[in-house]
Amino acid sequence: MSDVKILAIESSCDETAAAVIVNGREVKSNVIYSQIDLHTLYGGVVPEIASRKHIEKVNQVIRQALSDAELTLDDLDAIAVTYGPGLVGALLVGVGAAKAIAFAKNIPLVGVHHIEGHISANYIENPDLKPPFMCLVASGGHSHIVKVVDYGEYEIIGRTRDDAAGEAFDKVARAIGLGYPGGPKVDKLAREGNPDAIDFPRCVIDGAPYDFSFSGLKSAVLNYLNHCEMKNIEVNRADVAASFQKAVIDVLTEHLIQAAKDHGCENIALAGGVAANSGLRENLRARSEAEGLKFYHPSNIFCTDNAAMIGVAGYHEFVKGTRHGYDLNAIPNLKIGSRI
Ligand code: KG4
Ligand code: ZN
Repeated sequence: MSDVKILAIESSCDETAAAVIVNGREVKSNVIYSQIDLHTLYGGVVPEIASRKHIEKVNQVIRQALSDAELTLDDLDAIAVTYGPGLVGALLVGVGAAKAIAFAKNIPLVGVHHIEGHISANYIENPDLKPPFMCLVASGGHSHIVKVVDYGEYEIIGRTRDDAAGEAFDKVARAIGLGYPGGPKVDKLAREGNPDAIDFPRCVIDGAPYDFSFSGLKSAVLNYLNHCEMKNIEVNRADVAASFQKAVIDVLTEHLIQAAKDHGCENIALAGGVAANSGLRENLRARSEAEGLKFYHPSNIFCTDNAAMIGVAGYHEFVKGTRHGYDLNAIPNLKIGSRI
């Protein structure tokens, strides 16, 4: 079979991204226009602003991805695009652009689930990684433990009951005055603090050993800060960051390891923006070694939102025969593993 060249587009949140992927693993180009600076002014993503910026940038980003890959639209075998979950107005920009190219060039259109994209980022730099494996997906909107049964086949083993892990990072960062996006800033500051300085709670849910809850932890951090303010105690922000981060990491790590062991998976992987967290990776590396499991994660650039991961997931859908029509719509709450 000749090479399969896929142009992928991602616009579900605050990154406008396009990439060219060959045969599901080789990243020919990976262009990301991040809107972070724009949203930082408001302390979080403003959906209306995100959509407007996507429409402004999408064609430039696509053109750049093709030129970096030294290809034209005529060389493509398919177009992959994120169609959910995410911000509806933001998703629509990528979906519209993908449909236009698919129609103009008469090539297949493949809609991709954003989280399935995050999981598939693990294949890019780990040629030996193959399903089945247990994957922790932790991003700004999701915290799931997913069993990757086969390429494109997923089983949700655990989920958050309230806040996503990344959301907790962002809220705590705001509370200690670090600003948006919080994850990388907490990660950096935590390295200067003592993770055992403050005993924040590790929430376990009765009867649901793989589920998460981070709202109690978030409240505990806010209560600690209020208490310090009322008693005029100086807050050591690095200790708060380190202790909070350790509480999140402990729960994410232990639930993932337990799920892998209980389901007979020898391989574990990380996905989503929080997968870029250095403390989480160190902890998982050590714990997986102790448990005799093999641990995989993508590089930082493939952890946070990008289109390369969408191209990889899109490739596996493409070879399975998934094709979407010109009526493909954005689905803000698209469920993992669903086929619409
Ligand atoms: O996957 P992503 O780029 O977008 C979503 O699909 O949500 O994830 C963004 C989230 C944000 O909440 C951000 O604070 C968090 O990932 N994040 C991190 C780190 N880098 C990004 N959290 C902890 N440590 C990091 N180094
Ligand atoms: Zn994401």
